Amino acid sequence: MSSQASALGTVYLVGAGPGDPDLLTVKAQRLLQQCDALVYDSLVPKALLDLVPAGCERHFVGKRRGHHSVPQPSTNAVLAELAGRRRLIVRLKGGDPFLFGRGGEEAAHLAARGIPVQVVPGVTAGIAAPAYAGIPVTHRKAGSSVTFVTGHEEIDKQRPGVDWRGLARSSDGLVIYMGLHNLRRIAEELLAGGLAADTPAAVIQQGTVEGQRLLLSPLAELADRAAAGNFASPSIVLVGQVVAQRVAVCSPAPAAVEMPIPF
Ligand SMILES: C[S@@+](CC[C@H](N)C(=O)[O-])C[C@H]1O[C@@H](n2cnc3c(N)ncnc32)[C@H](O)[C@@H]1O
Repeated sequence: MSSQASALGTVYLVGAGPGDPDLLTVKAQRLLQQCDALVYDSLVPKALLDLVPAGCERHFVGKRRGHHSVPQPSTNAVLAELAGRRRLIVRLKGGDPFLFGRGGEEAAHLAARGIPVQVVPGVTAGIAAPAYAGIPVTHRKAGSSVTFVTGHEEIDKQRPGVDWRGLARSSDGLVIYMGLHNLRRIAEELLAGGLAADTPAAVIQQGTVEGQRLLLSPLAELADRAAAGNFASPSIVLVGQVVAQRVAVCSPAPAAVEMPIPF
């Protein structure tokens, strides 16, 4: 390592887990207790902020009420600047930093500047929220493959995006992040791709935390039921036969099952 690089602090891209503070990893907890700078955003459990030392410099880079998130280049710049004058910087992100968390972009930005960077994986919402609702994302009898996919991209016939029809044919189960806004179009595409109208589906809002909500529905009715129930972000959408394998007694958090459908 060059003398310039060794003079720089290390940035740890740390997964905060899905919401329940107890799902933080031991390594993440140790780093939070030792860091002298913390950069965090909106989906980070607030209880974790109490773990950092009193003198730790804190930067919030998430979405404030009525405002957009801090643009990614600004977050990258904050991290690089901190590395020049701090020793141990924790960049705390909801869930896992490398799964729809833009951790890859931040790591590349820092590495290109010779800044030491390490990644601490976290428990992702796409597995934890279903687990707290008693739904396994794979099952020997009901799902041998699962796809983690973003529902955030606009579904636009002019532009190639997520191939929902292809996924309907190729993946047993779908775990859809940021899918609520486009839920109606996503469901239409999956049905057009060959999924049956009664394919089991679910929406889990605020997974693993108090207030967790669970909606079970046939795919064809999912968008209407989610809208009628005022389901909101953050939510995970699940599609596939695994949803019908739900074991209610597995839920550690009281998951309110709304409009339950007996699959
Ligand atoms: C930008 S992505 C970040 C995902 C994160 N890196 C992870 O691994 O869980 C944000 C999306 O994750 C999902 N999400 C995060 N936390 C959640 C929770 N507690 N319950 C349900 N969905 C959650 C929602 O789909 C939300 O819109």
